[in-house]
Amino acid sequence: MELKKTLGLFDATAIGIGTIIGAGIFVVTGIAAGLAGPALLLSLLIGACISALTALSFAELATFIPKEGGGYEFAHELISPFAGFIAGWLWLLSNVVVGVVVSIGFASYLALFIPLPVRVVAPLACLAVMLVNYLGARESSLVNNALVTVKLIILAFFIISGIGAVKPENFSPFMPNGATGVMQGAALIFFAYTGLARITIIAEEVKEPGKTIPRAIILSLLVSTAVYLLVSFTAVGLAGYRELAGSGSPLASAALFESKNAAALITAGALVATLSVLLTTLLGLSRVSFAMARNNDLPGFFVKLHPERAVPYNAVLVSGFAMAAFAAFTDLPRAAAITNFASLLYYAIVNYSALKLEKPAYPRIISVLGLVTCVMLLFFLAREAWVTGGAVLLAGMLYYHLRRRW
Ligand code: ALA
Repeated sequence: MELKKTLGLFDATAIGIGTIIGAGIFVVTGIAAGLAGPALLLSLLIGACISALTALSFAELATFIPKEGGGYEFAHELISPFAGFIAGWLWLLSNVVVGVVVSIGFASYLALFIPLPVRVVAPLACLAVMLVNYLGARESSLVNNALVTVKLIILAFFIISGIGAVKPENFSPFMPNGATGVMQGAALIFFAYTGLARITIIAEEVKEPGKTIPRAIILSLLVSTAVYLLVSFTAVGLAGYRELAGSGSPLASAALFESKNAAALITAGALVATLSVLLTTLLGLSRVSFAMARNNDLPGFFVKLHPERAVPYNAVLVSGFAMAAFAAFTDLPRAAAITNFASLLYYAIVNYSALKLEKPAYPRIISVLGLVTCVMLLFFLAREAWVTGGAVLLAGMLYYHLRRRW
């Protein structure tokens, strides 16, 4: 029984956009605006440049190693099995926490329509996407294509209807917390770009992966960056950064400056966007666990494929329940910072893997800069992200050595 190759360029790009645009723009923008002020736009640009460097490393690696598991496999093959394990472990950490942030984002926006408890709805959302994932990658991708189309239409509506009403005075002072605020904002809003290489994780389910994956990575990052800059410009210009910073649903608050209907539409957009991120996050979690188990880095239980659906169903079920359990009690800003800590370290390892390619497709300076900028951004994260992320990393190292010994 093997994984099935069912995804084309459109599906692959939609999976990229589906994973990238979500709670980052709909929720974390507010927290980042509190740090950077209107210079949130600069934070977003810095995040985009760092992401672009790393995306190119992923693109060239995927051309040479189109294997399920993405960065885990790159590091496993090009650096060492231990580096691969650490990359996979960090990826699992970052994405379980992404699932938490995004499901809480979903539940918070839903509460604006129907007053249901966030800590009940968030785990239920995790379990719902688990069921879709259980059906298969093709089925998940079809649901994702629909969600991505709807979220892009709604964000386009927000931009087109709001950009004319932007007030120039809302951009001054531009950098109320100076360059440090901008960099702290960049470190946090980097969350919005995570998932930029999700498609590498499911490489063995993509048709002509060596060609399709690099194109999909670059296309999805370009579309997402353009959307982020335009949406943030419109939101800051409509509402001012203080209003965004004080809101748990900043884009809905900004849209209220247009009309109640616009705010309702943005709320619906947030629901759709966060669901698509949740869907593709769980897809990735199950496939990385599968790839790690295939190399004997996780229990063999995760490698079992469903006889008809060719889905690693145990990996889907365990990932879904783990995300739901954490969503019931983790706190949001801390979760976003922990995600970024693990993602940035993971991306640094991937850039380093690209440096190990004998004949790289792009100049090596791209991966060097990708590596340096990911490490640099780590230093602007809150201390608690280092403490929690570091503790999980140590636990992973211990697990690895015990597992080898057994
Ligand atoms: N980049 C994803 C989001 O913004 C995780 O929700």
